[in-house]
Amino acid sequence: MCKIDGSVQSPPLSRNPEHPDRFMADHSAHADQSEQKRLSVGDLRSQRWFAPDDLRSFGHRSRLRQMGYSAEEAEGRPVIAILNSWSDLSQCHTHFPQRVQEVKRGVWQAGGFPVEIPVLALSEMFMKPTAMLYRNLLAMEAEEVLRSHPVDGAVLMGGCDKTVPGLLMGAISADLPAVFLPAGPMLAGRHRNERLGSGTDVWKYWAERQAGCLDACVWRQIEEGIARSAGTCMTMGTASTLAAVAETLGMTLPGAATIPAVHSAHARMAAACGRRIVDMVWEDLRPSRILSAASFDNAIVADMAMAGSTNAIVHLLALAGRAGVSLQLDRFDTISRSTPVIVNLRPAGEFLMEDFHDAGGVPALLSRLRHLLSLDCPTVSGKTLGENIADAEVIDDRVILPFDRPLSRAGGTFVLRGSLAPDGCVIKPTAADPKLLVHTGRAVVFDSYPDMKARIDDPAEGITADDVLVLRNAGPLGAPGMPEWGMLPIPKRLLEQGVRDMVRISDARMSGTSYGTCVLHVAPEAALGGPLAIVQTGDRIALDVEARSIDLIVPEAEIARRLAHWTPPQARFTRGYGKLFLDQTTQADHGCDFRFLERGGPTPEPDIF
Ligand code: FES
Repeated sequence: MCKIDGSVQSPPLSRNPEHPDRFMADHSAHADQSEQKRLSVGDLRSQRWFAPDDLRSFGHRSRLRQMGYSAEEAEGRPVIAILNSWSDLSQCHTHFPQRVQEVKRGVWQAGGFPVEIPVLALSEMFMKPTAMLYRNLLAMEAEEVLRSHPVDGAVLMGGCDKTVPGLLMGAISADLPAVFLPAGPMLAGRHRNERLGSGTDVWKYWAERQAGCLDACVWRQIEEGIARSAGTCMTMGTASTLAAVAETLGMTLPGAATIPAVHSAHARMAAACGRRIVDMVWEDLRPSRILSAASFDNAIVADMAMAGSTNAIVHLLALAGRAGVSLQLDRFDTISRSTPVIVNLRPAGEFLMEDFHDAGGVPALLSRLRHLLSLDCPTVSGKTLGENIADAEVIDDRVILPFDRPLSRAGGTFVLRGSLAPDGCVIKPTAADPKLLVHTGRAVVFDSYPDMKARIDDPAEGITADDVLVLRNAGPLGAPGMPEWGMLPIPKRLLEQGVRDMVRISDARMSGTSYGTCVLHVAPEAALGGPLAIVQTGDRIALDVEARSIDLIVPEAEIARRLAHWTPPQARFTRGYGKLFLDQTTQADHGCDFRFLERGGPTPEPDIF
C-alpha cells in the first residue's frame, strides 16, 4: 500500500536465478485481491503534496486555486493522471482530444480528480528511423511523470504500436494503479468493392504496381481508401496484437482491445476507464498485483492464437523485464507448439479488426482458449480473467474459428536457432509461403538498408527466386532502433516474373501487417559481431522452420576465421539520446529495453520539501 510517508509496498524481490543481475517479484504475496484493504483518504499518495499544514503544501494548494480548482473539487480525491500520447502527427490518435474528455468525465463521476499529462506521441508512420528507437524514451517519461507528480493512479491512452509497450513499461515500473485505454482500430479500408487492410494490402498492391500490373490512378484510389478514420491499423498488426495482449495481461477493461476508434462504445469505454481507475486507487490495485508469470503465459497464448505481430515478442520480453517476471524467448515457441491459430485476420487470414470486435473480441477468443489459460489471474476490472470471460461467446465462427478447425495447428510465431542465430530469431510461418519453410539457398548479402535499396533491383546482382536475401546492421544497435525493414522487397525483375515470396533474413523487425518468409530478430545482431556479420554473398543458408533451425552452411573454422577479422561498424551516435540507446539497449531476445530500466532494486519516491 502507498502510505502518506510515500513508502511503496510492492511485491518483495528476489534474485532471478537465470539472470543474477536482475530481480524477480514474488507475486504470490499479492495473489488474493480480497485480502487487500481499501485505502482511505489519508493513504493517498497525492496527500503527501496537498495535506500537510506546511509552506510547501500551501504552495501546492494555492497553485490548484491558480488553475481554478476549489478545495471541494480537488482535495481528498484520488488524482488520476491521464497520460495522453497525442500530437498533430500521431495519425492513429486523432480522436484522443475528444476521448480524454470522456475519460475525465468518468473520473469526475467516480469522485476522482483528473489531470491530463501529454506524453511522447510515438508516431509509427512519421518518426524516422523508427518509433522503436523511442519506445524506451516514452517508457522513461511515463514512469517519471507518474513518479514526480502528485498522482494516485493513471489512465494510459495509447494504441499506435510502440505507445502500448512504452506506456505499460513505464506504468509497471512506477507501479501505481493503471488502466490502459487502447486507441481502437480504424474502420476497414475500401477500394471499390474490396475491403483493404492496413499495411497488408499496401504491400500486396505495391508488389503489383512494381510488377507493372497496377496503374497510377488505381494506386491513388487505394491511397485515399486505405485509412478512413481515426484509429490504429485494423489488420492483426502490432497495434491490434498489443491491445489484445494488454487485455489478456489484465491491463485493460474487458473488451477494450477491439472496439473501433470511432464506435460510440469507444467513448463509453473511455468513461468506464475513468470511473474504474478511481476504484482501483482505493483498492490499491497496482500492476505488481496483476502481472505474473501466469498472466504473461496467457498473453502469449492469445498472441499465438491470433498469429499476432512478431513485434509482440520483443515487447512482451521488455514488459516482463519491468514486471520482474522471468520470461525467455523459448517460452514463446513452447506455447506456440500447443496453441493453434484460431483468429482469422489478415495478414495470416481473411478478416479485419471490426469483424473481430463484432465476433466477440478478445473475451470471445479467450473463452475458446479457456483450457490453455490461467483463469485466476487478476485484472484491472477487479475480477479474475476467468470471471471477465464467463459470459463471453463467439458470435461469428468464421472470424474466431472453432478450436478443432484452426487456420494453423501451431501458433503464429516460431523461434529458430542455429549457427546463424545462436541466441535465436523468429518467423511467422502463417504469413509465409509454405513451399519456402524448408529451403536452402545462396545468400545475397546487403550490409545496410541503403545498400539493399541501391542493389536489390540491379540485374547485375543475378538474384534468383531461390536465393536467400540477407540484410544486416538493421538490428537494435546496428540501425539503430531495429526498424521494420525485415520484409525485404522482392527484386522488381522477379516480381515481373510472378515471384511473390522469397526467404529473407535480417536482424531487423517486420511490421505486424507484413507477410512473407521473413526470418527476423536474429540475435546476436550483426553490429554486435553475431554470425550474421560474416555471411558472404555466395554462402549457403539452410532454413527448416519445422525443425526450428537456421544455419549458415560454412565450416566452423571458417566462421571463426571470419569473426576474428571482423571489425564493428562505426557507432552512428556519439552523443545525446542515440548514444544512451547504443550504450544501454539489450538484444532482441531480451526485449531491447535499457538495462538500467529492467526491474532492479526499489526506486525511491520523490522527497517532498
Ligand atoms: Fe499506428 Fe499502424 S500506424 S497502428
